[in-house]
Amino acid sequence: MRDVIPTALGRDTEYLFARMTARTLALAGAAPARRVLDVASGLAQDARALAGRGALAVAAEPSARMTALARQLGRAHEDRGACLLRAWGDALPFADASFDAVICKGAIDHFEAPARAIAEMARVTKRGGRVVLAIANFESLSCRAARRLDGVREGRFGRALPRGRRHYDVPHDHFTRYDLELMCAQASASLELTRIEGISLGWGMPAWSRVLERVPRTAARATLAALDATARRLPSLADVVLLIGQPRASASTSAYTLAVRAAICGQP
Ligand SMILES: C[S@@+](CC[C@H](N)C(=O)[O-])C[C@H]1O[C@@H](n2cnc3c(N)ncnc32)[C@H](O)[C@@H]1O
Repeated sequence: MRDVIPTALGRDTEYLFARMTARTLALAGAAPARRVLDVASGLAQDARALAGRGALAVAAEPSARMTALARQLGRAHEDRGACLLRAWGDALPFADASFDAVICKGAIDHFEAPARAIAEMARVTKRGGRVVLAIANFESLSCRAARRLDGVREGRFGRALPRGRRHYDVPHDHFTRYDLELMCAQASASLELTRIEGISLGWGMPAWSRVLERVPRTAARATLAALDATARRLPSLADVVLLIGQPRASASTSAYTLAVRAAICGQP
């Protein structure tokens, strides 16, 4: 997590994460008695927020360490809890059409089998329900511009780049490097995409964070909000993309469901 999310958050990073969370939760449409699943829930803060809005929230996370931390945090926050369980995204232990909404935020690029996981999310979502994916865009305007700038600095001026991973390089714990085209192609196999929107523009540009720290807070906030409004309409350039879709009618029945059906009904 530390490699992906800087520990000291600048204003742009804070804004990006706050917007990504706010939009994902809003699109999940939490309401009393609505069933919402958070896949790769990490510390389960989003599932807790959904539960706080009255939803029946389930947080599914494979890591024992993350789940233990999430339980600790859940006890510390004395809010209405979410149900926490350990599960891989590509083998969700739920029957077909169990949830009104499924979210997966900032995680699918960590999955070994992301297409299978999206198919699983579609399967456990009710017909007419929705799946909300929030995915980092490694072909954002900022990634493209910074890559080109670094190329010029290195190639033409022979200047060494700063040490460490550049924000346009995929972190070591990612399996997939997503751009808008790949996200849409992969998600469309299992979801009828109904909406695609971008979040934040310019995150990671050299010196951008420092500039934002130097201007008054209100000016920084207004600039970030204006860029975000542009990103919303231009997802191919945005730092993060939200894909919202409904399960396709063909969302297949999983091996898990077949096994449960066989156990209950004696059907193969
Ligand atoms: C960057 S964290 C994001 C956590 C959370 N969604 C959030 O927004 O804070 C990525 C999470 O994906 C989980 N993960 C990695 N591979 C997975 C898989 N195949 N299925 C489900 N979760 C997975 C990791 O354990 C980690 O908690």
